[in-house]
Amino acid sequence: MDLSTSYLGLELEHPLMPGASPLVDDLDAVRRLEDAGASAIVMHSLFEEQIIGDEYRRVADIDVHEHAFGEALSYFPRASEYPLGPDRYLEQVRAVREAVSVPVIGSLNGTTPEGWLNYAHLIEQAGAHALELNFYYVATDPDETGGVIEHRLAEIVRIVRRRVSVPIAVKLSPFFTSLPHLARQLVEAGADGLILFNRFYQPDIDPEKLETVPRLHYSTSDELLLRVRWLAILSGRVRASLAATGGVHTSMDAIKAVMAGAHAVQMVAALLRNGPKHLAVVRREMQHWLEEGEYESLRQAQGSMSLERSPDPEAFERGNYVRALQSWRPSRFGTPT
Ligand SMILES: Cc1cc2nc3c(=O)[nH]c(=O)nc-3n(C[C@H](O)[C@H](O)[C@H](O)COP(=O)(O)O)c2cc1C
Repeated sequence: MDLSTSYLGLELEHPLMPGASPLVDDLDAVRRLEDAGASAIVMHSLFEEQIIGDEYRRVADIDVHEHAFGEALSYFPRASEYPLGPDRYLEQVRAVREAVSVPVIGSLNGTTPEGWLNYAHLIEQAGAHALELNFYYVATDPDETGGVIEHRLAEIVRIVRRRVSVPIAVKLSPFFTSLPHLARQLVEAGADGLILFNRFYQPDIDPEKLETVPRLHYSTSDELLLRVRWLAILSGRVRASLAATGGVHTSMDAIKAVMAGAHAVQMVAALLRNGPKHLAVVRREMQHWLEEGEYESLRQAQGSMSLERSPDPEAFERGNYVRALQSWRPSRFGTPT
């Protein structure tokens, strides 16, 4: 069974790869991921706040947390709490590149079109075959319009596009008013791919202690449906590769993402929970399912459930919504849905 796919111009044996996570900070784990058949390795992110903190510390020789400038940075982990500082990050890209034969995708994570983006070039120089840009931004200012935020994101992509020649994929959140329009802007700015979606690790509230409580909880397959929905809408409508991240745990999850239009399927929670070998299990089961269904290749299934050929995707979506609400019957009172 031919499971090959083309993602960001990279020819991959199949779509399954680890998403950005601390798994790849350890070369042993990286080798185990390759042994399990990962078609590419996505690096953990290097964060804007790490780079800014590091540069400021170099100039001022102080702990940024104890300086007025550092007030905003004080919400972030201290430099020593990140597994890899900026220099070590670049070394790790080099080391991973040497350790594996599959493509290596670097990851930068931040929100401003500023100097930290120079690291895009350094990551490319360190040997990355492609770069993820993770724009994790929560709008809190009532004066800031959606257009301003989107413009800033496109500007980040434009800047990085000028600095690197490797493909760029943008990892997005689902909280944009018109994702198709934003997607087009990002492609025009130079993005080669879109990764759907960032998860939001919403802090909980402890009502007794009047404290917020950070929570890192793993995804479940339920979260995949949001990704499937938007993959199906964007597939064929943007000239970019599409990747799914969030809620891929089983072969069925991966197949749904591919059918909705994903060229690459990333897994993190499933690998953190079950270990790198889980990737081989998902791949084997995916292959088996496609063979049973008499598919000749993965490409035959790719995008088969996208809305690309739907004459009216907007009506389809709204119709689906209305039908779902109307499907409830009084006989379902008290039963789980
Ligand atoms: C412990 C942990 C660390 C992560 N670190 C990063 C990161 O550095 N950069 C990034 O873009 N995403 C990061 N993510 C998000 C994952 O790449 C992925 O998008 C998210 O976990 C959803 O996928 P999943 O449902 O397969 O876990 C991290 C996730 C976890 C659980």
